[in-house]
Order: sequence, then C-alpha cells, then structure tokens
Amino acid sequence: MNVHVYENAQLASKAAAGLFLARLLSKPEAVLGLATGSTPIGIYRQLIEWYREGLIDFSNAVSFNLDEYVGLSGEHPCSYRYFMNEQLFDSVNMKETHVPSGTAQDMEEEAAAYDAAIARAGGIDLQLLGLGQNGHIGFNEPAESFSYGTQVVDLTESTIKANRRFFDREEDVPRRAISLGIGGIMKARQVVLCAFGQNKAQAVRDMVYGPVSPACPASILQLHQDAVILLDEEAASLL
Ligand code: F6R
Repeated sequence: MNVHVYENAQLASKAAAGLFLARLLSKPEAVLGLATGSTPIGIYRQLIEWYREGLIDFSNAVSFNLDEYVGLSGEHPCSYRYFMNEQLFDSVNMKETHVPSGTAQDMEEEAAAYDAAIARAGGIDLQLLGLGQNGHIGFNEPAESFSYGTQVVDLTESTIKANRRFFDREEDVPRRAISLGIGGIMKARQVVLCAFGQNKAQAVRDMVYGPVSPACPASILQLHQDAVILLDEEAASLL
C-alpha cells in the first residue's frame, strides 16, 4: 500500500485525477472502475475541467461502476447511474459506460453478466474506491468472509444511515445493492482509494494497520500489489 496524506481533500482529489490522466496517456483504451458517493465528486470535477481544457481524452476508454441500489432504475435521481451521468458521463466523451442494473428481472444473472462484461473488456486497469465508515469498499460490508464476484448484498444499518443524506426519508434508502465483489476489486491492476474527513479515520486505521480481515473489508487492500491510498489530514488522523 502506498499511503499519501494531503493537506485537504481538494489536493488529494487532484492527485487521484492525476492517476486517471496518467493511465489514459499510457493506455487510451483503459478500463476504468468508478465509484459514487461524496468522495469522488472533486475527482470527477477535476477530470471534467481537464477534459474541457483538452488535457484528457476518454474517447477510447470504457468504465464500469462498482455498484447500484437494487430497485432503483437509472432515471431515479438517487440511483448511481443518474449520479454518474450528472457528475461525469454527461460532461466527458467516455466511449462506453457500464453501471450494474438495479432493476434487472434476475439479479443473479445481472451480476454474472456484469463480471463477464468486465472480463470481456480485458479487466479493470484502474479502480477508484471510496471507503465506508465501517470499512466497506463497494458495497462489500463487514462480514464473516470476503466476497468474490459481483453479487446482491444487504446494506448494514451504518451504511443506510450514512447514505440517508441523499434521500428524503430514511425509509426511502434501498436496503439492498448489487456490488462488485472483493475478488473483482482485487483483480484490478491498480486500486486508488480516497478517504476524506474525520468520520473515516477509524476505518482508515483499520484498513492500513489492522489485520487483513473481512470485519474490515478494505484491509484486503494490504495484499494488493498496487494500491494507492489518498487521504486528507482528518482521515489520516489516527495513523
Ligand atoms: C460507492 C461505494 C461506496 C462509497 C462509500 C463512501 O460507489 O461503493 O463504497 O465509496 O460508501 O461513500 P462517501 O464517499 O459518500 O463517503
């Protein structure tokens, strides 16, 4: 793990965007693994700025998002497909974008098809991750064992509460999501995890110093051959 601490989230986001730029310069047809939530917003803003300036080009790149809420269609303003369109896809020239469907008739079939599509695209070159306050990555919640492929998962109370801010009422937060598994994340050639704010400090500590354990799913990144961790000072405060 390469851990870098920046004075603030804005600088760390710029560093993360820089890794996307470097990747696309050396491999224009890169397969990008993308995340939603508050953490990547500054990164996507930077990428859009560089795209407008003509510094970065996504026209040969393909993206696969980590997850989607079960039950929300892409038109729902709280869906991750909607978020991605708003925050990035509508503003850049990505060749192809993929977000798992939360409304497929057969979710197991959707999960298997998603993994197959990633494999057909050649595997993920750069996977961007946020970090849950409980140590989750994607929607791989603390569990007894590490997950492998894309699957439907039950969200924990902690995640439902953390994501409540995006919805009108707590009961509107979906209880299930479809998420890339830990195995899928670990297969990415490079992983870039960003965590900002005091409320991530304990999870960051467990991820970096804790035992590799499914009780803190992000701790598996200690075993990844190319994991870059970008933190602001608050998220790094317990290191
Ligand atoms: C989002 C995702 C989640 C978030 C995590 C942190 O696609 O998979 O793991 O990255 O919950 O969320 P924020 O960035 O909102 O604190």
